[in-house]
Amino acid sequence: MKLLVVNGPNLNMLGKREPELYGRKTLTDIEQDLSRLAAKLGIGISFFQSNIEGEIVDALQQAGTSVDGVILNAAAYTHTSVAVRDAVAAISIPVVEVHLTNPQAREEFRHTSLLAGVCAGSISGFGAESYTLALLYFGLPVSLKDTPE
Ligand code: DQA
Repeated sequence: MKLLVVNGPNLNMLGKREPELYGRKTLTDIEQDLSRLAAKLGIGISFFQSNIEGEIVDALQQAGTSVDGVILNAAAYTHTSVAVRDAVAAISIPVVEVHLTNPQAREEFRHTSLLAGVCAGSISGFGAESYTLALLYFGLPVSLKDTPE
């Protein structure tokens, strides 16, 4: 299995950016942790970050034909981007939405996710471990992943 982890705007600033909210790990720290866990799970993993909406759309389109699943933190585009939503809907691999914080516990403008309805599921509020939990989902044996009837 191969996965792509996509991070959206301002997540390249992790570690420096509002650490009381987003923690002190840099994006590189998070990616290294995920690489180590993916290796243990026998999963191939690659990473993409962009502050540019269209580049995220391009990455998702390419992922649709090159990997088996995506872990997506679209950051602020979660709440605004019909284009990112449409890109997720256009690909047939599972996309798991993740957030470091719990947007439902924050400002009202973060309560709407344009992505949740087209993602396989969403994991929010566990800091960097939100990504870990998403990776563990992909690492589950197929028999445990059957969706309910
Ligand atoms: C975020 C939550 C978003 O509301 C915010 O715009 C971000 C980060 C998170 O991971 O908690 O940039 O996606």
